[in-house]
Amino acid sequence: MKGIILAGGNATRLYPLTATTSKQLLPVYDRQMIFYPLNTLIKAGIKEILVVVAPDHSGQFLNLLGSLFKNYGIRIVFEVQKVPAGLPQAFVLGEKFIDDDSATLILGDNIFEDDFSQDIKEFKSGGKVFATKASDPERSGVVKFDDKGKAIQIVEKPKKWISDFVITGLYVYDNRVIQAAKDLKPSERGEYEIVDLHNFYLEKNELDVKVFDGEWLDAGTFDSLLEAGQVVKDKKLYENFDPIVQEAIAEFNEQLKKISKKMLTK
Ligand code: DAU
Repeated sequence: MKGIILAGGNATRLYPLTATTSKQLLPVYDRQMIFYPLNTLIKAGIKEILVVVAPDHSGQFLNLLGSLFKNYGIRIVFEVQKVPAGLPQAFVLGEKFIDDDSATLILGDNIFEDDFSQDIKEFKSGGKVFATKASDPERSGVVKFDDKGKAIQIVEKPKKWISDFVITGLYVYDNRVIQAAKDLKPSERGEYEIVDLHNFYLEKNELDVKVFDGEWLDAGTFDSLLEAGQVVKDKKLYENFDPIVQEAIAEFNEQLKKISKKMLTK
């Protein structure tokens, strides 16, 4: 299983914050946002992770993550996405990286309270996505279930209500996703849509949609960013981190302190 974090995009809804850095490097309580999706992948035992970044902030991602896990057997590589043309591009940009494996894609601004490591570890084939109830489903990809709980329809940001269940930003697909992503056509809004990949598997009866109850935060607006920090603090979500990630962050902080001490004594 390979892991991909999609951390590009322009994040215009967060201007002027994102004029100087990437959304996924903004703080959520005591650490950068990207550590949350990174933790989800590392907790699931994934050892090879591709981080897709926008051209303007690629150096900042390299500074933070380039060497962070080198002593922990986790390889992090980067790809620059020149234009944010849609989420499925992650699989096109990541074709060589994924090679013959399956891939778990997570959005760089999605924070989950639940632990999905078992689902990712036990994944065999097809597609697996994770849905939860939302009060504003029109902002997301929406899934409709039949009365037996089977997913029957998936629509991106539906104008007319079809269901309260939204598909969150964590997706596990088998290797066919690469070709499926390459074959997609842009939607009416001119983007390649992740729901078209869900539907690729749904049509074949090979999409597993798991419903979960825990906290899900998509920190893409001022309010949701603020809320994310507050929820992380109140629920102590930072305590759920994998020991590897905790240690790597602590080690990184120590190094920074040493460097600044050296500069002061020069
Ligand atoms: O958060 C879950 C939702 O994410 C899903 O329910 C939707 O089906 C899915 O389309 C997506 O909707 P958003 O409106 O939240 O997508 P957004 O364009 O904000 O992109 C999500 C993240 O991915 C964001 O952090 C920026 C990054 N991104 C986005 C695009 C389009 C990239 O890195 N590259 C891209 O090309």
